[in-house]
Amino acid sequence: MKAIVFATNNKHKISEIQAILGDQFSIIPLSEIGCTEDIPETSLTIEGNAMQKATYVNEKYKVDCFADDTGLEVEALDGQPGVKSARYAGPGHDFDANVTKLLRELNGQLSRRARFKTVISLITSDNEMLFEGIINGIITAERRGNEGFGYDPVFIPDGYDKTFAEMPAELKNSISHRAIATRKLIKFLKENY
Ligand code: IMP
Repeated sequence: MKAIVFATNNKHKISEIQAILGDQFSIIPLSEIGCTEDIPETSLTIEGNAMQKATYVNEKYKVDCFADDTGLEVEALDGQPGVKSARYAGPGHDFDANVTKLLRELNGQLSRRARFKTVISLITSDNEMLFEGIINGIITAERRGNEGFGYDPVFIPDGYDKTFAEMPAELKNSISHRAIATRKLIKFLKENY
């Protein structure tokens, strides 16, 4: 069986991808290759951060690997919070504070258009590739729904009338930015790896 490292310790992300790939591939978490340090994420772009994480693991541990990075880009805020989505309201990954800041910044703005963007960077001995997943939508005036995480309670994808947090997880996970990028990665791995 072919094995590839996913540069994350998020067990949920690992099992989601492993389930789609089936038993053709084995997805290895960072903990299994002895990588316990914080991987630097200092790039100013989502693409750059995904590349930085995959490059770090590939160079230090000499393994084929992929890494992901995601951000919410809001039109009226010139693409912010973007690469800073996890720490928009300050260090500490506080989802609630980030949403509060976003709603405050959008108060009185004419456009509430936004998009989620996921970039997956893959590095193998033969290839260096980027896979992108984008979903467009709008930011609501207030929170709606309890599912999901992060900015889900204030994001309505185009073509729907519910926020990500009002949708069943299966629906969100089948249409999301991460699903789109992941499907591209999986297609590539199945055909080329
Ligand atoms: P990460 O790169 O997957 O860790 O995502 C960075 C940040 O983007 C997270 O901390 C969340 O604030 C936000 N984010 C990423 N994916 C989603 C999503 O599917 N829904 C809502 N927020 C998300």
